[in-house]
Amino acid sequence: MAKLLYIEASPRKDRSRSTQVARTFLAAYQKSRPDDSIQTIDLWATSLPRFDGATIEAKYAILQGQTHTPGQAQAWNAVVDVAEQFKSADKYLFSLPMWNFGLPYILKHYIDVLIQPGLTFSFDPQTGYKGLVTGKKAVAVYARGGAYGPGTGMEDYDLQSKALTGILGFIGLTDLVNIFVEPMLGPPEVVAAGLAKAEELAVATAKSF
Ligand SMILES: Cc1cc2nc3c(=O)[nH]c(=O)nc-3n(C[C@H](O)[C@H](O)[C@H](O)COP(=O)(O)O)c2cc1C
Repeated sequence: MAKLLYIEASPRKDRSRSTQVARTFLAAYQKSRPDDSIQTIDLWATSLPRFDGATIEAKYAILQGQTHTPGQAQAWNAVVDVAEQFKSADKYLFSLPMWNFGLPYILKHYIDVLIQPGLTFSFDPQTGYKGLVTGKKAVAVYARGGAYGPGTGMEDYDLQSKALTGILGFIGLTDLVNIFVEPMLGPPEVVAAGLAKAEELAVATAKSF
């Protein structure tokens, strides 16, 4: 029995296009793998540790090979909890809006907590960086008001999928399927066609995920 972790990054709930396509994915996934468990992290309903004070000093202590002070160790526990919850999954589903061409800040906050030496990546002066989240796979659903695919002339502005794909690859999650929900701001028939295309891909991907 596998565990799928669903990370939801739009605050718009039932109005969210990325959430809508992710829910379609989950319904199809549950149908094809009824024994698997699904855990949802609604980032907007989750209390993430602030990355300042003793928490950030704890990170620098690790990077400099120093042991934690009691205050740093206590602060670091909250970071470890986030990483352990993430690593407990076998598969991942992300859904996210494009905000100012990039990630919504709540997801950036989650990433800044999650990407840590000794937890999700390691560093060796001889061999360099190594991702520690390996042998797993992920799907990401990206909603955006405009269109950024090949031939739109807007490809370089898509910092949303570049940022997520890049950081997931850094921690070892290279088996990633990207589903684009676009353009979501436009005439109703164009929006409907963009949604239908994304939902079709979501269902097809879920069946073999
Ligand atoms: C704060 C904010 C910034 C946005 N920035 C962009 C943008 O840079 N490019 C774009 O194409 N759409 C942008 N949009 C539109 C959203 O990406 C679009 O409405 C998408 O459907 C949001 O995802 P959701 O429906 O899952 O919440 C922005 C929307 C908001 C609220």
